[in-house]
Amino acid sequence: SAAEKGGYDYFMLKEIAEQPKAVADTLLGRIDASGSLTLDEVRIPVSVLREVDKVVIVACGTAYHAGMIAKLAIEHWTRIPCETELASEFRYRDPILDQRTLVVAISQSGETMDTLMALRHAREQGAKVLAICNTNGSTIPRESDAVLYTHAGPEVAVASTKAFLTQLVACYLVALYLGQVRGTKWGDEIQAVIRELSDIAAAVDTVLETMEPVRELARSLAEKNTVLFLGRHVGYPVALEGALKLKELAYMHAEGFAAGELKHGPIALIEKDLPVVVVVPSPRGRSVLHDKIVSNIQEIRARGARTIVIAEEGDEAVVPYADHLIRIPATPTLLQPLVATVPLQVFACELATARGNEVDQPRNLAKSVTVE
Ligand code: AGP
Repeated sequence: SAAEKGGYDYFMLKEIAEQPKAVADTLLGRIDASGSLTLDEVRIPVSVLREVDKVVIVACGTAYHAGMIAKLAIEHWTRIPCETELASEFRYRDPILDQRTLVVAISQSGETMDTLMALRHAREQGAKVLAICNTNGSTIPRESDAVLYTHAGPEVAVASTKAFLTQLVACYLVALYLGQVRGTKWGDEIQAVIRELSDIAAAVDTVLETMEPVRELARSLAEKNTVLFLGRHVGYPVALEGALKLKELAYMHAEGFAAGELKHGPIALIEKDLPVVVVVPSPRGRSVLHDKIVSNIQEIRARGARTIVIAEEGDEAVVPYADHLIRIPATPTLLQPLVATVPLQVFACELATARGNEVDQPRNLAKSVTVE
């Protein structure tokens, strides 16, 4: 009913709008007055977490994209090797797991069969499993050693939005917590990031307030057949997520690439007027990466692509090469997906509407996939 949708036409719109609150709720009660993390609910003893020598993340779809970003955060902040794998592939390759492996299973519903089977396999091999989940008391947390709930509130639309942002926040918390209990040399940076995380809800709000041009752009592309998405580092999973949203909602051919891979093949796809969304990393800090992506934008534009550039506020280097420029607030490098994903959600939702598709219940899809 309209009341359930809080005045929005679709649950998806409501859930996109709820993201600042959802993100704040994921953090709630987990940072103490001194700026340290208190994750008592992670019932895996600190002594065990200190011995972990490998982290393996398993998930599907959007949750897998969160896991790809989590890998970068975990390795950067903890220096523990981490791999992220599609849950549906995981157990079929006889993965190397033991008592010192921490497996993180990410699932909004907590009922995804592929993820459940992956975690059962991990526990059989003696690994500890931590679930990141949005649904209280669901199967995945019940079968895990510990759970960190995302507290996003119920997500009804099939296309995942607020669950993704809150999964990211939970992943950052896990990464930072591992860093904290292990006392890594990134101590100061960890404290600073914890502070920055507390400001992120406001940044997401800022993005939401500036989405009208994105909706307009989406409507103007309703007749297109293909949209490509490019990113590097944390922007690569964001590109994959933007493409997935467009597939499931707009039923368009959409693909995400690591921008550095363009020259190894995908650049052959570029033709006149092809819309290409590029997620640009911050020019601060990792400026090498930023410069590389600016030349990628130049390359595709020289071949006729219509460039849709998502770039940090104040990044002037991209301006000459952007046919459409979508601004996002400056954030620390690893946190950028929290703001960069939001325009892609709005973009896909508006394109679905413009193409007359059912937004909350796309064809052929179920909210939770309880078969393998
Ligand atoms: C995302 O928009 C999807 N509908 C889908 O990829 C989803 O993220 C995936 O099925 C995993 O679901 P889960 O988080 O409930 O395990």
